[in-house]
Amino acid sequence: ADRYGVIGNPVAHSKSPDIHAAFARQTEQALTYERLLAPLDGFASTVRTLIEQGFKGANVTVPFKLEAFALAGMLSERAEAAGAVNTLKFQGGAIVGDNTDGIGLVTDIVVNAGVPMRGKRILLLGAGGAARGVVLPILAHAPEQLVIANRTESKAVELAARFAGKGTVAASDFRSLQCAFDVVINATSASLSADLPPVPPAVFGEGCLAYDMMYGPAPTVFMAFAQQHGAATRDGLGMLVEQAAESFQCWRGMRPDTRTVYAGLRAKL
Ligand code: ATR
Repeated sequence: ADRYGVIGNPVAHSKSPDIHAAFARQTEQALTYERLLAPLDGFASTVRTLIEQGFKGANVTVPFKLEAFALAGMLSERAEAAGAVNTLKFQGGAIVGDNTDGIGLVTDIVVNAGVPMRGKRILLLGAGGAARGVVLPILAHAPEQLVIANRTESKAVELAARFAGKGTVAASDFRSLQCAFDVVINATSASLSADLPPVPPAVFGEGCLAYDMMYGPAPTVFMAFAQQHGAATRDGLGMLVEQAAESFQCWRGMRPDTRTVYAGLRAKL
């Protein structure tokens, strides 16, 4: 069986082994997928050991996505745009880096939630690594406008400028957000500490979907706030399953059905 795994620190909490085991059963692929704890100062040597052991690829999670980007000898366009790598493919000694987080988010919104982005107004909250990873896949759906809003406005300005050639992207601080959006995506790390990014309620337009990249057994504070102001909400569990499916496709050349795997994970949260 071909070997894969997820490299992180910590990694014990990762759901990726369960997800990929389910994908492998479903598609009858002979593969194993392990949790791989790398020392904080030992990401590159961990990857080299995996290659020596004949691993075919790996996912990369916190805090190694930037190091994976630096280590990869070849990068997909979307990894280049994201500035981070969550998927490594080992090809005869070469290390190919990809990033499936952004396409995972967009697939969960457009396909699973059934909310189109084409011609719509999209608001992205945050300008860190998580936000950067999703900009190009959002712009690929040709929204009317993407606004990136961040607490530190200069970082939103920088991020918007980076993608200026790829679509209609603007930057903002939170306070100046006055108009309504069709989709509002929380890519800040505020939910981690149960904080609410200070968005004015006016951003939640008629029929708005408010999406939090975080997930858990209960709605996040952002989702609760959005619900109070009339928005439909969705958490990031679907993004997790879809990014895994995209990595699986990158390695195995086939796309698993994500619905049953998503339902199984949801039931166990
Ligand atoms: P990640 O990789 O999760 O994106 P990051 O690169 O450290 O982490 O970025 C964190 C993002 O969450 C930033 O946009 C940060 O805003 P600043 O650039 O102003 O720091 C945002 N963030 C974190 N806590 C927040 C809070 N309580 N309210 C609003 N934004 C917050």
